[in-house]
Amino acid sequence: MVEKTLIITDKQIKEYISVEDAISLVEQTWRWYSEGKIIMPSKVTTNMETAGVYGWFNSMPSYIAPLNVAGVKIVGGYSNNLKRGMPYIKANMLLTDPDSGFLRAVMCGDWISNYRTGAQPAIAAKYLASKTDVVTIIGAGLQGFHCLDCMSRILNIKEVRVCDINVEARERFIARFPNAPFKLISCDSNEEGCYGADVVITITSACAVLVEEPWIKAGGLVMTMGSYTEISEELSLKSDKLFVDQIAQGLHRGNFKEMTEKGLINEKSFAAELPDVVTGKAGGRDNDEQRIVAAIVGMGCLDLAIATEVYNRIVASKDNVVSVNMLD
Ligand SMILES: NC(=O)c1ccc[n+]([C@@H]2O[C@H](COP(=O)([O-])OP(=O)(O)OC[C@H]3O[C@@H](n4cnc5c(N)ncnc54)[C@H](O)[C@@H]3O)[C@@H](O)[C@H]2O)c1
Repeated sequence: MVEKTLIITDKQIKEYISVEDAISLVEQTWRWYSEGKIIMPSKVTTNMETAGVYGWFNSMPSYIAPLNVAGVKIVGGYSNNLKRGMPYIKANMLLTDPDSGFLRAVMCGDWISNYRTGAQPAIAAKYLASKTDVVTIIGAGLQGFHCLDCMSRILNIKEVRVCDINVEARERFIARFPNAPFKLISCDSNEEGCYGADVVITITSACAVLVEEPWIKAGGLVMTMGSYTEISEELSLKSDKLFVDQIAQGLHRGNFKEMTEKGLINEKSFAAELPDVVTGKAGGRDNDEQRIVAAIVGMGCLDLAIATEVYNRIVASKDNVVSVNMLD
């Protein structure tokens, strides 16, 4: 029998996996990464702006031994998409047989990317937060929504403060949680949002200092997830512990890129990588007074793990999915 390549849409993906499954898979994949069962070179960025194309994309390859899969996530930010009424971020995935290179599936990566992005701070907060009563989200966009959606499923949250330079984005964000069991507050300033917060997440498209050091209380956890600088150098340098999801990537992209270039931070600055905190190879928070900063730049193996679970469930179901023989 000739194996066929499956073409899997975002709608199908949502039918075969739940948000809770995606969150568990992110935690499990971090564990596998810490155990040395994943090969994942740093992502490569193709920036097209110098050629007049307002977009960039990352190629994110990985191999996951326990799932017997190799694949690539291709995800980018496309500024013109907003004018088209489409999300800024667009993701696609390729799944292959690691032994033969056979292309098992071409998959839409949007749902998977959004929920693996949101699952990351949920798991990180589970291990690193002293409390999660008051959560502040700076960046009321698509990724911010998924972060809160995932966090609210596994953490006890009483109050969410929503910060964004765009008031309408804040209102839209709050309207997406109509029956939330926590209070949602739209904040006019980041300082007001951060004061006394247990957890602060920055997930914006900005390259600017959005959080200053004096605004974060003892015991606070700050997670920076945007693609550029988002928190003050002072906050990173004065925090009790710095974490990152993967050091090799975290030094060269996201919040710590500029600090690395200035020589203010290097690989020894980090207490550990987050996957090692999940397995217990490295300690996380030592006491309830520590201020912790974590940068989460995103690992492609998380997407590949979720995509593979969906693929396996579809194959097992024997449901009708579009498939092609790539050699025809
Ligand atoms: N770490 C990860 O795993 C990961 C994954 C996907 C995307 N991202 C990054 O997350 C960021 C957000 O992506 P998105 O899809 O949510 O974009 P989006 O356009 O939907 O939302 C971004 C929000 O940031 C707000 N914003 C911009 N400048 C701001 C400022 N100075 N202060 C406060 N708010 C500001 C915008 O008004 C907007 O509401 C991007 O940088 C993207 O590259 C990270």
